[in-house]
Amino acid sequence: MTIAALIVAAGRGTRLGADVPKQYIPLNGACALRRSVELFLEIPDVSQVACVIHQDDQARYEHAMSEAMTEKLLHPVQGGDTRAKSVLAGLTALERAMPSSVLIHDAARPFMPVEVIERVISGLKEHDGVCAALPVVDALWMERSGMAEHSVSREELWRAQTPQGFRYDAILAAHSRNHEDSADDVVVARRAGIAVKLVQGDENGFKITTQEDLARALHLTAST
Ligand code: CTP
Ligand code: MG
Repeated sequence: MTIAALIVAAGRGTRLGADVPKQYIPLNGACALRRSVELFLEIPDVSQVACVIHQDDQARYEHAMSEAMTEKLLHPVQGGDTRAKSVLAGLTALERAMPSSVLIHDAARPFMPVEVIERVISGLKEHDGVCAALPVVDALWMERSGMAEHSVSREELWRAQTPQGFRYDAILAAHSRNHEDSADDVVVARRAGIAVKLVQGDENGFKITTQEDLARALHLTAST
C-alpha cells in the first residue's frame, strides 16, 4: 500500500481575521502548515506529501518550507475558492504519483497526534474510508430565537476531524463527480457510496479557526 498525504492550505482564514492566512502565522518557531507537513513527513508509511496552496501564497509557502529538504515533499498545487475544489486540485496532481491511498488533512490542525494518523492508516487496511472523529460529550439543544427548544440526543453523534483517509482512485472519482462545496471529504465520499469507518481522534487535533484557537495553539507551542 503506498500512501500519500494531501495537506489543504489554500483557505484565507476569514473567521480568524489575521493579516496573513492562519496556516502561515508563526507558532513559536514554525507555522501550522509546516507543523502539519512535518507530522506526515515523519511517518514511514507515508511516501509522499503534497500541499495545496493559494496562488497568492507561493512566497509564504517557500518561506515556511525552507530547509524541508526531502524528496517526500512534492511541489505545491494551486487550490480553488472552496475546500472541495482545493482537494480536487490536490488529488488530480497526485495522479502521476498513483498512491493506493490518500490521507487528506487540514493544514489548520497542526497538533494531531501521530497515533491518530496511524489509526487512520491502519483502518485503511480494512475500510475504503476512515475518519478521525470524537464522540460528542455535551448535551445538545435545538435553539429558536435564542431560547432552548428541545434537546437532541448525542448518542451516535461524532465531531469530524482530519486526517480522513481513502482509497485514492475512489476518492478522486467521488470528488470529480462532486459539484458542491462540502464541509469535509467524508461528505463527498458518502455521496459516492463509500463506507467510512470512524476512529478515535484527539482534542489536540482541533482546527485553528478563531482567536481563541490561536491563543491555544500559541500556548501549546510555548514550551517547545
Ligand atoms: N482550505 C483550502 N481551500 C479553500 C478553503 C479551505 O485548502 N478554498 C483549507 C484551509 O486552508 C484549512 C482547511 O481547508 O487548512 C479547513 O478550512 P477552514 O478551517 O475553513 O480554513 P479557512 O477556509 O482558511 O478559514 P475560514 O473558513 O475562516 O475563511
Ligand atoms: Mg473555510
